[in-house]
Amino acid sequence: DAALAERAAPLAERLVADRAASKLAAQDATLWGPDAEPEASIRLSWTTLHKSSRPLIGEIEALRTELRSEGVDRVVLAGMGGSSLAPEVITATDGVPLTVLDTTDPGQVADALAGDLERTVIVVSSKSGGTVETDSHRRIFAKAFADAGIDAARRIVVVTDPGSPLQELSEKEGYRKTFLADPHVGGRYSALTAFGLVPAGLAGADVARLLDQAASVADELAADDAANPAVKLAAAWAAAHEAGAEKVVLADTGSGIKGFPDWAEQLIAESTGKQGTGLLPVAVEGPEAAGFADAKDDATPTAVGSPQGAAKIAVTGSLGAQFLLWEFATALAGRLIGINPFDQPDVEAAKKAARALLDDPEKLKGGETASNVDGA
Ligand code: PA5
Repeated sequence: DAALAERAAPLAERLVADRAASKLAAQDATLWGPDAEPEASIRLSWTTLHKSSRPLIGEIEALRTELRSEGVDRVVLAGMGGSSLAPEVITATDGVPLTVLDTTDPGQVADALAGDLERTVIVVSSKSGGTVETDSHRRIFAKAFADAGIDAARRIVVVTDPGSPLQELSEKEGYRKTFLADPHVGGRYSALTAFGLVPAGLAGADVARLLDQAASVADELAADDAANPAVKLAAAWAAAHEAGAEKVVLADTGSGIKGFPDWAEQLIAESTGKQGTGLLPVAVEGPEAAGFADAKDDATPTAVGSPQGAAKIAVTGSLGAQFLLWEFATALAGRLIGINPFDQPDVEAAKKAARALLDDPEKLKGGETASNVDGA
């Protein structure tokens, strides 16, 4: 789209002049400027996960082999949002089964429980270690294992941040294994940490290849160059935003990467949609997406809506590369739009509100909901 490209060019040049991409990759604390929220500058370790997550590969493989030798080959994941979307995409793309519990929908829980428990391990994934839904799923499965005469502690694997209540619980209960992730990497940037790799790897996905794919584009994404695809994507979003666009439509038109738009939707929504600004990402897949596509065979196109219509950007590449590309682009777009892409005040507030309701059942009787407690 010529009009969008014209608007985006100076924004891309601004990122290049600021050396934003290379600073991001170098985890340079000056990137967000002297007035930035102090936390923003330290939340950049996701840029080098293709290196720092390497040691996990052997650990995951060892546990998987051990479980398989015990006849345990069915993996259930209890986790929400940033702790479930990436492993869902990774396993779907690799064609390996993973049962995901990411809602309190009784049907979903019943289906997960209906599988063969003798062959099941549950990965309980929560950064905060206090998410109500995830904790409920852990309890339900612990009871189901016990009722079936299975040693539940041997069938529960935990992924969490150091010092979380879930880590404490895991140690107390003697759960099979606890993987600790870097607490500076936010949930939606955690695809290449233990949160993405452990459930996917235990289920049989090739997570070493995923890190290789990310490594293969790391230098390109760190380049201060207007041709850097992350710079281009960020500049296009920011240009569409400046032009008054309200939505970015993520249309997967048959890239072979399954469920990717849902992952990217959360990344973009929570990163840039705050303080009454930002673009609303909308994921479309299947026949709906066809309307956005005249893309080449292996492209994952991104349609950036503008008041005049839709401008399209085709994005291609393998899954590990896509994770890193979209994370870079989102962080850079945040910089152009003037928003901290690493915090999530509304998510935190909603969690606090949900917890407050559970801690004080009297409020529930009074008809309060998580949306009217504490203004969340
Ligand atoms: O991106 C986010 O912050 C959320 O989607 C979280 O990932 C989600 O709420 C799960 O949180 P936790 O991993 O703490 O259980």
